[in-house]
Amino acid sequence: MIIALNNKCNLLMPEFESYQKELTSLNFKSSKLILCPTSSYLPLYNLDNIDLGSQNVSKDEMGAHTGEIAASQLASLNVRYCIVGHSERRQELSESAKDINLKIKNLLAKNIVPILCVGETKEQRETNNTEQVIAEQVKIAVTDLTEEEKSKIIVAYEPIWSIGTGLIPTIAEIDNVLLLIKEIFPQSKTLYGGSANDENIEYLKTSKLIDGYLLGGLSLKIKKLQRFIDKIEN
Ligand code: PGA
Repeated sequence: MIIALNNKCNLLMPEFESYQKELTSLNFKSSKLILCPTSSYLPLYNLDNIDLGSQNVSKDEMGAHTGEIAASQLASLNVRYCIVGHSERRQELSESAKDINLKIKNLLAKNIVPILCVGETKEQRETNNTEQVIAEQVKIAVTDLTEEEKSKIIVAYEPIWSIGTGLIPTIAEIDNVLLLIKEIFPQSKTLYGGSANDENIEYLKTSKLIDGYLLGGLSLKIKKLQRFIDKIEN
């Protein structure tokens, strides 16, 4: 199972240093962990058994783009994975589907694995538009990509109404969406993200289509994270 830790915009620098120390005490065997810290902390990464991911990348390559980080700069920091299209960026920063497509292309050109996030709002769910919304998000994100390029992308289903709320969809709902994603990306790994924790993991584990998890809040709670990993691995 893939376990991607999305720290979001959390931790001060000294806290990040001790957080990394705590991560070295995590016990895991079959899981593959990916740490996505706040971007300023990317150069501080010093873990052997956890891969490094970024929370974002620029849609442009290096040059006059103040405040951005280009895919080649991420590659020079040993970043192997990068979250793209997180709903917080789509909503708060008006990141468009076209931008997400450009970001994916830049990452693939530098051999960084995109973790593409897709998900519906509460309203879209309540009006039965989930599948249509996800299909549309995915379709634009992979515009002009070859099948081989598509196979390199990890797709994370993150219902927006579930992120940080403690609410999760039913397994039937998750599996419906993951089936749809796997039709478009037959070879890609599919993650679930949105309030996944050490208590609901027993239920989430019953899905046959989840290849891993994208964790926000839980990424910062090492004891609970350890319990989560133990329950996945045993
Ligand atoms: P959450 O966040 O686990 O805190 O719900 C998940 C995410 O936003 O990636």
